[in-house]
Amino acid sequence: MKLWGGRFAKQTDKLTEDFNASIAFDSRMYQQDIQGSIAHAAMLARQGILSEAERDRIIAGLEEIRQELAEGKLGFSVAAEDVHMNIETFLTAKIGDLGKKLHTARSRNDQVALDVRLYLRDEIATVRELVLALEKALLQIAAQHLETIMPGYTHLQRAQPVTLAHHLMAYFEMLRRDLGRLDDCRRRLMSLPLGSGALAATGFPLDRDFVREQLGFAEITRNSLDGVSDRDFAIEFCSWASILMMHLSRFSEEIIMWSSEEFSFLTLDDGFSTGSSIMPQKKNPDIAELVRGKTGRVYGDLITLLTLMKGLPLAYNKDMQEDKEALFDAIDTVKKCLLVFTPMLLTSQFNVDRMARAARGGFTNATDLADYLVNQGLPFRDAHEVVGRVVRYCIDNHLSLDELDLAKFKEFSPLIGADIYPYIDVKACVARRRIPGGPAPETVQAALAEAGQWLRRVEDEG
Ligand code: ARG
Repeated sequence: MKLWGGRFAKQTDKLTEDFNASIAFDSRMYQQDIQGSIAHAAMLARQGILSEAERDRIIAGLEEIRQELAEGKLGFSVAAEDVHMNIETFLTAKIGDLGKKLHTARSRNDQVALDVRLYLRDEIATVRELVLALEKALLQIAAQHLETIMPGYTHLQRAQPVTLAHHLMAYFEMLRRDLGRLDDCRRRLMSLPLGSGALAATGFPLDRDFVREQLGFAEITRNSLDGVSDRDFAIEFCSWASILMMHLSRFSEEIIMWSSEEFSFLTLDDGFSTGSSIMPQKKNPDIAELVRGKTGRVYGDLITLLTLMKGLPLAYNKDMQEDKEALFDAIDTVKKCLLVFTPMLLTSQFNVDRMARAARGGFTNATDLADYLVNQGLPFRDAHEVVGRVVRYCIDNHLSLDELDLAKFKEFSPLIGADIYPYIDVKACVARRRIPGGPAPETVQAALAEAGQWLRRVEDEG
């Protein structure tokens, strides 16, 4: 017998029952469902809707069910459709007719809106830790590479020298924004929908604020129609996850390139790479590739939710049952990616010599030669022109800028003196970029100190 069976003269068709059920995927919210029911029962008793004895038996029953589910002693049934009705069915089986009172002044519509929020809150706490662990790893590696010179790129062409620490700290900044967005998402999530009922709240005198406090929410939803119809929090999370994954994917792309023979900037640890079934020499960056690949999947979850919601009239519609698989997939994927990405990074070897050699090639110091001429009084545009000609000459003669002798330099510009050689040394090029935001070791050292302080602060706010 269905919990909603009274109005029906016939049994549900088997295929319809399967099609309609969400238990296969919403059972993972059983803890949150029970947590919400306990708070609801406590409140019903406070308001005199249940007696204290009834409340105590209901809560004890729910706690036993939680225990039995955790121990795998209870099996969910498709006939009971979803996690909410499965648990109500378990409760009634356990404590008898009293179990049927629990759903007073509540609908599955406000119940599911609550459960998903509670579930997401718990997952956000886990994901937040994982993001912080990656931030910490970046700081740790960057601190070892303040002086590791590498080429910075634009258009994937060598551009100007930077350091590995500076490069890695760019990712730190992306993740810092990600963390801010995650906290923002969590803030808006913390609004209690219970009490919205099916759509029009309830005539029972519920104490919503009591439930809010019991469940640790910041506020209660202000409109019952919105309370049951809103899935913005799930969309916000998937949007957050999409941006995070975009960052991880860019990082992965660099790791994939850097571990190629052509770059050889980085060697992945054997424990975090894989081989080929045919080519014995292969060592592939599969983790980074999968993170890059799974980014598309998380974008898909976001698009699923946006599309799901775009045409729905108020208030609840069954379409919304489809929110869970996309949201859960985004949560699971982000967690898996972060869990493996951080140790992969921490165990990677950076090939410092190879990076330095790459920075010395490709005329990454050409801008500094132009800047030198500007310091001698030449307008920048003219200096650019002169250096462009020097570079063309060097390319034709297979030379780097510092291999050009002084007499030749002077043919291009009499303003160039012997002090040009230390000036265009790539180390010096990096060292003079000391302004805030720049790659000079002392500047990045200060950036690391600030980043460390920020990290400790947000860890405490966790
Ligand atoms: N399993 C449903 C869902 O996930 C719960 C809410 C059902 N509400 C309803 N009116 N049929 O959305």
